[in-house]
Amino acid sequence: MAALSIDSKYKMLSGYEIPVLGYGVYQTPADVTEDVTLHAFKTGYRHVDSARGYRNEQPCADAMRKSLIPRGEIFFTSKVPPRAMGYEQTKASINSSFKQTGLDYIDLYLIHAPYGGKEARNGAWRALVEAKQAGLIRSIGVSNYGVHHLNELEAYIKEMEERYGKGRGGEISVGQWELHPWLARKDIVDWCTERGVICEAYCPIVRGQRFGESVVQELSRKHQKTPAQVLLRWSLQKGFVPLPKSVTPARIEENANLYDFELSAEDMKALETSEYSPCAWDPTTSTD
Ligand SMILES: NC(=O)c1ccc[n+]([C@@H]2O[C@H](COP(=O)([O-])OP(=O)(O)OC[C@H]3O[C@@H](n4cnc5c(N)ncnc54)[C@H](OP(=O)(O)O)[C@@H]3O)[C@@H](O)[C@H]2O)c1
Repeated sequence: MAALSIDSKYKMLSGYEIPVLGYGVYQTPADVTEDVTLHAFKTGYRHVDSARGYRNEQPCADAMRKSLIPRGEIFFTSKVPPRAMGYEQTKASINSSFKQTGLDYIDLYLIHAPYGGKEARNGAWRALVEAKQAGLIRSIGVSNYGVHHLNELEAYIKEMEERYGKGRGGEISVGQWELHPWLARKDIVDWCTERGVICEAYCPIVRGQRFGESVVQELSRKHQKTPAQVLLRWSLQKGFVPLPKSVTPARIEENANLYDFELSAEDMKALETSEYSPCAWDPTTSTD
């Protein structure tokens, strides 16, 4: 693995690059979002993970402008709300994101969750593909899809290509899931790895709930790094794109200070568990 730094990027199937460390803003109140996002930019983050449902797209975009960092160096993600699935509603969701943010383009737009049934999922995807073809969105993907949803989408992409021509079905550049040592989702990660889909890790520090685990404590002592840094380093070394969230300036910095140590193969193994323990919702298992 090439040495990672805060400036590392991965190339996606869309051809665009994604910064490997993201900054999550779920549950970040709109009135503090601009300030904390600016602090993240000062710290060196160049990737913000928002969503229609977080109600803070606008202050994220305000921070992007105020930072004076060239637009092309910042990566911004939003997501289709689970209650706005389907073709027309997804088009409306994308329009709202542009109205709220005032951005010329959005780097990544994800389907937030696989709810609403097959027709709604396929319709949402078709709207994303059209927005990508119109140059509004650069890369598209999904979040919280189980392998059965991913297979369904892959079949739909193939069907679209047969109907409209090669490349017209879009490509799944990114998938976003809750991923950490107590929810490693081998089936989903293998599906993505085989196809070159980038895996983003949400709740990468398990919302602080596992800092007391003895293996985390031991590795924290061994490397003289905090439990959050150990878990984020695990995520980076798994090849994921972790999206830690914090509204606390010192933690924003701590969560980006990951590049002066490395977990050994033995450390990585010690962090392997066979648990399936989500700390957030788990739409991957939905069957409608
Ligand atoms: N696609 C989805 O369905 C989905 C679902 C959940 C999350 N996400 C994305 O993933 C991001 C991260 O997930 P998350 O926010 O649920 O969980 P997380 O990043 O694992 O944990 C965030 C929590 O940990 C605290 N924290 C942050 N850094 C810390 C540190 N160094 N030491 C101790 N505590 C620390 C934060 O507190 P303070 O903020 O008070 O510092 C906050 O309460 C979200 O913001 C969002 O962008 C996506």
